[in-house]
Amino acid sequence: MINRRNFIKSTTVAAGILAFGLSAGMALAADPIVIKFSHVVAPNTPKGKGADKFKELAEKYTNGAVKVEIYPNSQLLKDKEELEALQLGAVQMLAPSLAKFGPLGIKEFEVFDLPYIFPDYDSLHKVTKGAVGKELLDKLGEKGIQGLAYWDNGFKIMSANSKINKPEDFLGLKLRIQSSKVLEAQMNALGAVPQVMAFSEVYQALQTGVVDGTENPPSNMYTQKMHEVQKFATLTNHGYLGYAVIVNKKFWDGLPQDVRASLTKAMDESTDYANGIAKEENDKALEAMKAAGTTQFHTLTDDELKTWRSTLAPVRKQMADRIGADLVKRTEAAAGTK
Ligand code: LMR
Repeated sequence: MINRRNFIKSTTVAAGILAFGLSAGMALAADPIVIKFSHVVAPNTPKGKGADKFKELAEKYTNGAVKVEIYPNSQLLKDKEELEALQLGAVQMLAPSLAKFGPLGIKEFEVFDLPYIFPDYDSLHKVTKGAVGKELLDKLGEKGIQGLAYWDNGFKIMSANSKINKPEDFLGLKLRIQSSKVLEAQMNALGAVPQVMAFSEVYQALQTGVVDGTENPPSNMYTQKMHEVQKFATLTNHGYLGYAVIVNKKFWDGLPQDVRASLTKAMDESTDYANGIAKEENDKALEAMKAAGTTQFHTLTDDELKTWRSTLAPVRKQMADRIGADLVKRTEAAAGTK
């Protein structure tokens, strides 16, 4: 006979079994693999849109077995913290600029920062899609990182609060740079004073005069509103800024084989997408900044361009020892800029 005490006891046990069964069953069937993907730029940039596309495709191709959480705009981690967090496994995926791998001990990526080494996206792609591109991604393995792809942003322009048409206009200006020794040498060649600073701090540093200027592709300059605090910009297109999409290697290697295959497909397609929109995003950002009217943009004359090139030419030789003379040569050969 079931009395009240027994009833309460048996229903409590049943509820407990049910609750355990549910949570255990759900854990087996429904707990997705989470990929935290942190980045430092705005969502409406080539990288931001590429990351969102990867999320969409990764979740679709794995039928929800993978959930991608995107953290844009340095909201989770700043530049330097990002790579440390990836190595520790606190986040699984990043797409740092190629100019930010030096502090990790892989100085070779700074070949991408050399002034005027890539005349356009096509020549750059010959390098990223060729032997040099693969070799550099493979090097990340020794740091516990798996390189998956190269994503484009674009070619950098110079900005400041004083006129900067000619190299000599940079004498003594404090300019924010990413953590690359090649960029440091480039600013020194202009007679400027380079200051390494996290991307998340640049707007305020420009606004308060902590630095006088910086370099960026138009899409970064526009989406961070830097044009509102920079009176002059010169369309030097002197260097490239792009990304390596990377994952924690242990995490990647530990994924079920079918999941890894679906994620690879999602990455390949989002790479095509991101690289397909990069130029247009930068062109649109430049037009939007011109329309905003807060910055005066200068296009280089042929003679001015010659002066820029010859002023920055010594940087390649100077940095060859650091990057590797052979790597510089092979990059120039692939890019067609010998
Ligand atoms: C910068 O720090 O200027 C860039 O690397 C930011 C980015 O990720 O595009």
